[in-house]
Order: sequence, then structure tokens, then C-alpha cells
Amino acid sequence: MKRIAVVTSGGDVPGLNAAIRAVTRAALAYGAQVLGVQRGYEGLIEGEFIELTSRAVAGVLRQGGTMLGTSRSERFMTDAGRRQAKAQLERAGVEGLVVIGGNGTLAGAHELFKLGVPLVGVPKTIDNDQYGTDIAIGVDTALNTIADAVGRIKDTASSHRRAFLVEVMGRHCGYLALASGIICGAEMVLIPEQPAHPSAVAARIIEANRIGKAHCIIIVAEGWKPGLRALQQYLTTDHTEESFDIREVVLGHVQRGGTPTAFDRLLATRMGVRAVEALLDGSGIGQMVGLHGGQLGLVPLEVATSCPKPLSAELMRIGEMLCR
Ligand code: F6P
Repeated sequence: MKRIAVVTSGGDVPGLNAAIRAVTRAALAYGAQVLGVQRGYEGLIEGEFIELTSRAVAGVLRQGGTMLGTSRSERFMTDAGRRQAKAQLERAGVEGLVVIGGNGTLAGAHELFKLGVPLVGVPKTIDNDQYGTDIAIGVDTALNTIADAVGRIKDTASSHRRAFLVEVMGRHCGYLALASGIICGAEMVLIPEQPAHPSAVAARIIEANRIGKAHCIIIVAEGWKPGLRALQQYLTTDHTEESFDIREVVLGHVQRGGTPTAFDRLLATRMGVRAVEALLDGSGIGQMVGLHGGQLGLVPLEVATSCPKPLSAELMRIGEMLCR
């Protein structure tokens, strides 16, 4: 292949720029030219390419976000959108594509591959819900961001003897909530995978107060039902009287920004280089790069995008044992 392209699509995560840089410099080292697709799949449909030289990716390793821009593209979910994207790649003389994305983006990549576009996927998502890899680009930085924020919240919670409901991201997957609950010493973790009645939360808060704790930290995953608002209403309507005062914090998109950790920079770099090698030698076409027990491997996109990733049973056990 003489010319390849790289695209980042879906929600951004810290580490995307490190991956773009690695893809660019690896491809250049193997003698291939690299185009960057701007604005994710929307830009791919519109043919928004820029040339990525070695200088163009200088100094981006420690920057959050994605230098190429991104989008959540409705049009790419249609056959017509994907066919237009394929035509744009052909017009630009692109022979292979590296797609950096989460499950939705990689499912789109699989459809594009089925139309005959040679491509390799690289997993990124802060949620850690991508099947076929132990961890994706962005998870570690998001977890560190949450740990820092919850540490700050604990300071003020202890000073005032308060309970805090801290909502973290994770629409369908409780990984961030569970892992952050464990590493922050939370009193309780609420995740989509494990329904809990608000009365159980009230009981935990009352108990924390009764045994003399200075605070009570409840980590709530975004996708936990009935959700933060309903929980807050339940708790403040007579259910935790004479216990801690309650406050809520939604960490939101703060979790998606910031400079990537050393772990994410290294993971993104390793995955970016591996994706280029697997694209150029043909061994990874139609596949996703994944980390398995510290080693990089390849998983067919069909498998990676069709299997749900179960939450670690070990972490669930640890969470149940220690988050109280
Ligand atoms: O999938 C990643 C994620 O950060 C989820 O945790 C979150 O629910 C969602 O994206 C937010 O999406 P958006 O940035 O489109 O609001």
C-alpha cells in the first residue's frame, strides 16, 4: 500500500492523538503516505482529507481530544453513507484505512470492510466496554481523572460530614464506576449490571453515619436505573433524615478530556503501530487490534462488534467486599 488514511470517530478520549501520531509515523517509516480524515465518519463521507506528515503530528502526544476532529455520524449508519465514504477513499487514492473508535464506530468499520475497503480497527472508549481487548485507549486516563475528582470530593465531604452521589460515565457498562469505587474507597457503587433499590442506598448511608464515618461516597454509573435524579429525590424525601446531608456531583465530560496518562500514550502508540503493520502486511484486514494479557493480538471485527464485554467478575467480587 502506498497511501493509507486514519480516522477517529465517535466520542473522543485522551490518547487519540498519540494513536494518530503512531499511525502516521509508522506508515511513513514503511514508506506509505498518510491522510488524516477530519470530523470522523462525517468527514469521510464528505472526503475531508489532510496530509499527515511527520511534522504535522509533532507535539500531539500529550494533548487530549483528537487533532482530526470527530463526529457521531447518523449518515454512516446507512448503506448510502458508507458507499459515499468508500467512493471518497477511492477518489483520494487511499488503499487502506485505520479506524480508531468504540463499538459503534467499529461496527460501522465492519460494514465498510464488507463493501471491500481494506481496514484495521483500533479500540478506544473510556467505558472499557469493547469486546476483544482487555482495555481500550482512554480508560486509564478517565479512571485517573475520576480518582482525582473523587479525592477532592472526599476532602470536602469529610470536612462537612456529608454523603456525595458522584455520577460517572458509562451508559451500559459499570466498569468506570466499579473500578473508581474500588480505587477511591467508595462506600457503595451503583452499576447498570446490578439493579439496586434506592432504599438499599439509604440504608448504606445511614449505616456509614452510624458507625462514625466522616463521609459516604456513592459512585453512580450514568446507566444505573432508576438514575441519579430519582435516587437523589428518594434520599432527600425523608429516607436519610438524621444522617448525612446529601450532595450530588455529575463528573460528565470532564472524564473525556485532559492529557493522556503514560499508560494510554503507550497503549495508543503500540496499537497504532500494530494497526499499520497489520494493514500493510494484510494480516489484520477486517480485524481489530486488541490487548490480551499484555500482548497485542487481532480479533475479527465481526466478533469484536457483536459480543458484549462482561464486567470482570473479580472486580465485582472485590467491589462487593470492599465498597461499604
Ligand atoms: O461512550 C462513551 C461515552 O463517554 C459514554 O460514557 C457516555 O454516555 C457518552 O459517551 C456521552 O456521549 P456524548 O459525548 O455524545 O454526549
